Amino acid sequence: MQEHHFNIAYREYAPNELPDEVVTLFQHAKAALKDAYSPYSKFRVACAIRLVNDEIVTGTNQENAAYPAGICAEGIALGACASLHPNVGAKELFITIASDAFQVEQIAAPCGICRQQLLEFETRFKTPISVWLGIEGKPVIRLASVKDLLPLAFTKSDLL
Ligand code: THU
Repeated sequence: MQEHHFNIAYREYAPNELPDEVVTLFQHAKAALKDAYSPYSKFRVACAIRLVNDEIVTGTNQENAAYPAGICAEGIALGACASLHPNVGAKELFITIASDAFQVEQIAAPCGICRQQLLEFETRFKTPISVWLGIEGKPVIRLASVKDLLPLAFTKSDLL
């Protein structure tokens, strides 16, 4: 028997330590929160993606009366990237949240399906995507790659 370990590092930044381009990305994500359609959960999620050509594309969660038909912010943002800027990879993304029902005190990380979708995009364009997670006035977390969010992932290479 052999025991293996994943060693996943992430960084925590104080708000005033964020690089300028990340502040801009965060601003885009916060501005997009108003476009979330979340009448059922009252929970807003926005994802701002900076492409390698420096375009910024945002997406927000879009819910549905048939709950499982709702789409997460990350999936909407990735779809918008693929539609508006086909064949352009991403270098970083920022996810932020808000609630219409309570004061959000802690950041949220992407759900499992979003991690899988983000990983497909990262793998497809062979460029690591930094993942920033933050809310106003709190420390921001940065992972260097989507891979760090999904160890032992199922990817394209499993199908070859
Ligand atoms: N949500 C996202 O948009 N992204 C995630 O990664 C997690 C959850 C949305 C789905 C739903 O509209 C609301 O947050 C509550 O689950």
